[in-house]
Amino acid sequence: MKTVSIFGVTGSIGQSTVKVLNQHKNLFAVDAITAGANVESLAKLAIQLNAKYAVIADASKFETLKSLLAGHNIELDCGEDGLIRAATRKVDISMAAIVGYAGLKAALTSLKYAKRIALANKECLVAAGALFMAEAKKYNCQILPVDSEHSAMFQCLEGNNKSQLEKILLTASGGPFRTHSMGEMQHITPAQALNHPNWDMGAKITIDSATLMNKGNEFIEAFHLFPVTADQIQVVVHKQSIIHSMVQYHDGSILAQLGTHEMGTAISYALGYPDRLTLDFERLDLFKIARLDFEKADEKRFKCLYLAKQSVQMGGMCGAVLNAANELAVAAFLAEKISFLAIADICEQTINIAQSKNIIGNATSLDDICATDHQARQIANSLI
Ligand SMILES: NC(=O)c1ccc[n+]([C@@H]2O[C@H](COP(=O)([O-])OP(=O)(O)OC[C@H]3O[C@@H](n4cnc5c(N)ncnc54)[C@H](OP(=O)(O)O)[C@@H]3O)[C@@H](O)[C@H]2O)c1
Repeated sequence: MKTVSIFGVTGSIGQSTVKVLNQHKNLFAVDAITAGANVESLAKLAIQLNAKYAVIADASKFETLKSLLAGHNIELDCGEDGLIRAATRKVDISMAAIVGYAGLKAALTSLKYAKRIALANKECLVAAGALFMAEAKKYNCQILPVDSEHSAMFQCLEGNNKSQLEKILLTASGGPFRTHSMGEMQHITPAQALNHPNWDMGAKITIDSATLMNKGNEFIEAFHLFPVTADQIQVVVHKQSIIHSMVQYHDGSILAQLGTHEMGTAISYALGYPDRLTLDFERLDLFKIARLDFEKADEKRFKCLYLAKQSVQMGGMCGAVLNAANELAVAAFLAEKISFLAIADICEQTINIAQSKNIIGNATSLDDICATDHQARQIANSLI
């Protein structure tokens, strides 16, 4: 039996992970589980999964958690420190599925204590990619990507010589506004942006998918996860999202991984690797799909993608600045304080101001990233 902790168990990825684990109770035992504020779901899942440790990040909900789990033999904890304590428990696999920068410290800690990180949280690599990968190497922690695109790349690279890799083809659905003009995009509401055509995900990533910041984040992730330069990563808009990504080798061969829009496949691959677990999810029906389309991404209409690519070129802590600005801008858009198009403008202006204030240097520690994240949030807040 392998031990698994799930950070962000109540979220979309957390719930899909539970579905996979429930199909393989003989292979995995759950150790720690965590949630942000959703204390009732956390308590239910702790009992259902027979968890050993449960953490609620929102400390004001700790008394409720205690009363909901009274009489159960489950260790309880709370707050950001509680998340870190959960991450110091030795496990075979740690599922990093907290949304946003809030998941970074626990994931960085898990690198020291888990044998493998199943990495769903993309903000870890966007905000702290170089540091995160260096720590993973230092502590010999294996990183298995959970994002379906990076799982596809990982699978297409398996068994091949990575030094013969020519480029990565990162596929993108294009989001719900793929064909919208700038004029049409001016009046997009949160409800429209939350309605993704292909994937059912948490609110933050759904908005990121609509602005293409999600694809930008994935561009940055791919840059850190695989041995490629930024010029070797090409975004390909593929509206059906059936091909989850591709890799091209020096001989011109392109290998692709295809699947349904179910996250279970990528999650089960990250949990079961090198084995493939049997899953009873729906299978892909190529006759129903019938055709696959490809087009170029428009970085003028979708400036967030351009900014993410530019942040890789700029290097240093530009990703941390971009991530901080985007997190605040997305929250402000959801709260109807700013327009859809203002998300990209706030990200761009935050980067420009951060650059003029010289806060985009190289990070040597988590403290550097926290300081830059803090300053970038102040800048973005004042712009909002
Ligand atoms: N959903 C997908 O299909 C998908 C695919 C690829 C990658 N990802 C990435 O995976 C991560 C999770 O995405 P998601 O869609 O599952 O998000 P989600 O549905 O919003 O779930 C987020 C999880 O994080 C917890 N959380 C929120 N704020 C927290 C805080 N401050 N401290 C501790 N825990 C906190 C939430 O707890 P509560 O429920 O208590 O709020 C929940 O368990 C994101 O980084 C996303 O980009 C998601």
